Amino acid sequence: MGPAQTRLGTGRLPVEATSFVDRRLEVAEVKRLLAAARLVTLTGVGGVGKTRLALRVARELRRAFTDGVRWIELIQVTDGSLLDSTIAAGIGPADQGVREPLAALAERVRDRALLLVLDNCEHLLDGCAGTVGTILRESAGLRVLCTSRQPLGIVGEHVWTVPSMQGPEPDEPLGAAADARYPALALFLERAVAASPGFAVTADNERAVVEICRRLDGLPLAIELAAARLRTLSPDQLAAGLRDRLNLLATRHAVPARHRTMESAFSWSYTLCTPAERDLWASVSVFADSFDLAAAERVCAGDHLLGALSGLVDKSVLVLDRATMRYRLLEPVRQFGCGRLRAAGRDRVLALRSAHRDWYLALAERFAAEWFGPCELEWIERPGRSRPASGSRARCRRSGGPAARCPRAGTGWSARSRPAGPHGGNGCARWTRTGGSSGPRAGCRPRSSPPANAR
Ligand SMILES: Nc1ncnc2c1ncn2[C@@H]1O[C@H](COP(=O)(O)OP(=O)(O)O)[C@@H](O)[C@H]1O
Ligand SMILES: [Mg+2]
Repeated sequence: MGPAQTRLGTGRLPVEATSFVDRRLEVAEVKRLLAAARLVTLTGVGGVGKTRLALRVARELRRAFTDGVRWIELIQVTDGSLLDSTIAAGIGPADQGVREPLAALAERVRDRALLLVLDNCEHLLDGCAGTVGTILRESAGLRVLCTSRQPLGIVGEHVWTVPSMQGPEPDEPLGAAADARYPALALFLERAVAASPGFAVTADNERAVVEICRRLDGLPLAIELAAARLRTLSPDQLAAGLRDRLNLLATRHAVPARHRTMESAFSWSYTLCTPAERDLWASVSVFADSFDLAAAERVCAGDHLLGALSGLVDKSVLVLDRATMRYRLLEPVRQFGCGRLRAAGRDRVLALRSAHRDWYLALAERFAAEWFGPCELEWIERPGRSRPASGSRARCRRSGGPAARCPRAGTGWSARSRPAGPHGGNGCARWTRTGGSSGPRAGCRPRSSPPANAR
């Protein structure tokens, strides 16, 4: 660290909304890898637990780095040209000047002892590869942990595939404390009790529970979706439903078993939803990040919206952050919804995209009108929460619609300081006027610089 540099602090990490199960060996292994390699990429199918594992590792390593840990959620960055500025903003506020975003980012990490976690790189592989390669050369104390379905493919990258959770063998008698031996079972039981208080493994349901864990291949997301079904189904019905669904899929698709399991878990959950819930699952997939009730009402207007929203939360399709009352689809679940939306036809897709664009356009216009005034604090406290996916400005311009209005869609939607987590804010954001451009520019300087100790 240079003599003039201020320490960055430990950094904020997303709050874990649900309990974390096991992964002791995996956490230890990833920490060991990070001690040896400067870039570690956790790969694996969607829903296997890459993000949760990375979060655990980040939490445990927080104090091992002088400048702490930074968690950068990339799922909402759909426009690759925003990658560098997003990462830079996530590291901490600093003067942007007029430099290229990559140069500004490189400067920000220079000589720092920092763990940077890039969550969900798969849709920006080339960009991440270029950026990570560059910044690793800027600081010997920098370590990067990525989660991605695919490796970045750069020299020095250490790729580690996140394993699914171990479960009991078919027909294995569980005996006492089986959940301590089998993380897949432990996760299923934790979520089963949450869905159906008082649920326990008994002599009557033991075989079904073992079969469920086995059929779900130890994939945490599939386990959670299935366990949520125990609100309305018995373990036997659940096991039978999975059996039928998997057999059906197995004969139809020549796809890897893991993907089949996920697809089957989703499609089965989907068929068990009411028509209004199914419709909403597809519709809310237009939100790349979290959204609130007002956004859902405006963008996905439907007759039974409230009921469908809470139905999807009950079924673990939507995750509700009760602190902010914002909803979110986990990425694999969103992808499934996108597929259903596409299947509903081009008109439906265009109608939703337009509604999505108009909602954020209206929000951006309100921001432009209100932020410099009594509402400033309220706006500052919304960073990242009510922000559109950063690619939606570009999409807005591409997807037709009133072109003259589009440039204003970017007004104000670039935070100098990104929130620490996927849907939380760090409370020290300052917004810049970008006028629809793709990254932070100096067009409208913040009124005050953040205090040095906030850096
Ligand atoms: N060790 C774990 N303990 C509890 N829940 C887990 C664990 N691993 C994954 N999950 C849950 O499974 C789901 C998918 O995990 P996630 O980390 O988002 O997967 P990925 O990043 O691979 O797509 C999430 O709801 C997550 O909370
Ligand atoms: Mg993830």
